[in-house]
Amino acid sequence: MQFTAKVTDISKQRTACAIIAVDNKNRFTDSGNALDKASNGSLAKLLKRGDLGSAAGSTLMVPLLEGGAERALLVRSGKTPISKAEFRKLADASAKAVTAQKEATSYLAEVSVSDADANWQANQLALAAGLAAYKFTRCLSEAKPYPLAKFTVHASDKKQLKEVQKGVDIGSAQGLGSNVARELGNLPGNICTPSYLVAEAKALAKKHTKLTTTVLDNKKMESLGMGAFMSVAKGSDEPAAMIAMNYKGGKAGQKPIVLVGKGITFDTGGISLKPGMQMDEMKFDMCGAASVFGVMNALVEMNAPVNVVGVVAAAENMPSGRASKPGDIVTSMSGKTIEILNTDAEGRLVLCDALTWAGKFKPSVVIDIATLTGACVIALGHHATGLYANQDKLAEELISAGETTGDRAWRMPLWDEYQPMLNSNFADLQNIGGREAGSVTAACFLARFAEDYNWAHLDIAGSAWKSGAAKGATGRPVPLLLQYILNKK
Ligand code: BES
Ligand code: MN
Ligand code: ZN
Repeated sequence: MQFTAKVTDISKQRTACAIIAVDNKNRFTDSGNALDKASNGSLAKLLKRGDLGSAAGSTLMVPLLEGGAERALLVRSGKTPISKAEFRKLADASAKAVTAQKEATSYLAEVSVSDADANWQANQLALAAGLAAYKFTRCLSEAKPYPLAKFTVHASDKKQLKEVQKGVDIGSAQGLGSNVARELGNLPGNICTPSYLVAEAKALAKKHTKLTTTVLDNKKMESLGMGAFMSVAKGSDEPAAMIAMNYKGGKAGQKPIVLVGKGITFDTGGISLKPGMQMDEMKFDMCGAASVFGVMNALVEMNAPVNVVGVVAAAENMPSGRASKPGDIVTSMSGKTIEILNTDAEGRLVLCDALTWAGKFKPSVVIDIATLTGACVIALGHHATGLYANQDKLAEELISAGETTGDRAWRMPLWDEYQPMLNSNFADLQNIGGREAGSVTAACFLARFAEDYNWAHLDIAGSAWKSGAAKGATGRPVPLLLQYILNKK
């Protein structure tokens, strides 16, 4: 999709659809008034009839016969100034309502929002449009994607245009990155295998000179001593891979941000087999890896002046004659030995070796992203990503990036008091901590492999995908991660 920021005159602007806000007292913003005037007051008349719902986010599509706009989409903003959360709803509702159009121009940056500027509003509008226009069609015999291919955000004057442009740029990158992540997440396990992810990473490097891809295969990982990773990989016929996408857009010598994504392309649980109900959703167990792909794609697209390495730990977790058994003990790359009490706690096994390997990039910070625990969904539900960090400043920066984009994270404890839950009678540590605080003990496990650098862990088990009628990957936490990275530049 193509995104533009532009100062327009709504009475003349040729567009398939002009999106305008209506407040609780049926008042338009400046552009809305101009369009109403150009259509001889017919929009105001329609409002008097009560065709637009009174609830904030209600929309009404109105065909127009005069002027440059072929349609107007009226969106109820409610009593202004509205909050940022209310504006997000407006952005989402209006974006969803224009997906059937080829093109649209939004005048919603004119809406008065508390504690927000034009940059932020334009960012939200572009992000919402990008997300709304995505549909998974890859596996349909007849693909019918949404027609929406061009989205313009109106700025009131030249001065505001700069801000609106900045917001559109980051919002469109966040949308693009999110949709890359959604597409990979939605792909089924028989298509999106570890080898498929390898091919994606290589293709990205081929397209962009600032990005290089390296891949470790099973043999190489074995020789590096990645016994924890290999204990998961060996149960599957699909070859596993450790992938690094190294993007050098920043100053040479500037320490990179390293992202590490859990890329279990299907999680059956292994010998500790999962129950059958909703097991299909374990194709989403590579959404952490998908978010890394999303971020890397967005960075190269934006030509962002940053150094970021995207590491993906890709494997399939299967039961087989070669699979790990409960009680097996393996040696991780760090040298620490692990008793595998549950083969379904495989994410931490692939991630611990990926975290050790990440150290070789001399990172300024390492952030891992993983659909790690069902317990995180119990703790936080689907609204917040679980955030853990061994440094307060990093935690605060990530939380603030999430607040800005509406892709929110909530900090959880990494206290030493939890660590004894991982004590094993037979090895340095065991891979499960018992029924209580399951998300916390999983994070505590990872923390033992991230002692040498600033590190954060995002448990996205609740935020990465939706179940039920709207089943599908959300693309989270790509907006949060991009916001965090771009705040640093
Ligand atoms: N991929 C799952 C976590 C998961 C489960 C995410 C359900 C979203 C929904 C992970 O590999 C896993 O199976 N974790 C176990 C850990 C347990 C065995 C300690 C879990 O959460 O049940
Ligand atoms: Mn599992
Ligand atoms: Zn898993």
